[in-house]
Amino acid sequence: MAKLTYFSHSAWMIETNGTTILIDPFLDDNPTSPVKSKDVKADYIIITHAHGDHIGDSIPIAKANNAMIITNFEIANWCGEQGVTVHPLHIGGAHDFPFGKVKLTQAFHGSSFPDGSYGGMPAGVLVTVEGKTVFHSGDTGLFGDMKLIGEMNPIDVAMIPIGDNFTMGLDDAVKAVEFLNPKKVIPMHYKTFDVIDVDPNEFVSRVKNLGVEALVLEYGGSIEF
Ligand code: NI
Ligand code: MN
Repeated sequence: MAKLTYFSHSAWMIETNGTTILIDPFLDDNPTSPVKSKDVKADYIIITHAHGDHIGDSIPIAKANNAMIITNFEIANWCGEQGVTVHPLHIGGAHDFPFGKVKLTQAFHGSSFPDGSYGGMPAGVLVTVEGKTVFHSGDTGLFGDMKLIGEMNPIDVAMIPIGDNFTMGLDDAVKAVEFLNPKKVIPMHYKTFDVIDVDPNEFVSRVKNLGVEALVLEYGGSIEF
């Protein structure tokens, strides 16, 4: 069994067969994270897009742990220039790593770095470990091809934003679940800032009406999958 842990916002950790993978580790400047960058270990770090609340502490964590960063070509170049080991991917592309498969999907959002420089296309990510697939949609609005992503890549656990304002809000996120058709869904990207203060329990009860299992993970909480 692999383990999935939520650090709040869009920051997650997957542990599988002794390998630790972080996704969007925004920890030190994240008021809701129960852990800070010095507390976490990582072998790989996946970054969905260049915004500060997703790149977060990727560089110091990668340096402290000699971890490889997996992200789009533009962000990979930026990280590589800072002396970090990288593996560039791009939208639609997958690669087999020693721990499993990583595939980037499209996301409708921005991806500039905090200084305004270009960070390529924003992405979602499908991570397949131990025969199970986790989908982290990144920051995105609703789009119809989520149906295609779900059809082509059966999803065991989906993590999608519900906070509105910068991403899907409740109505669109519920429709996204219908499109993606995951076995289980966990909301993310809410409450971190005042402007995305949405109630995740409302999302869960509306998704349950679709017949899909949904749960709210506490900050620091985990599930096995
Ligand atoms: Ni963003
Ligand atoms: Mn964000």
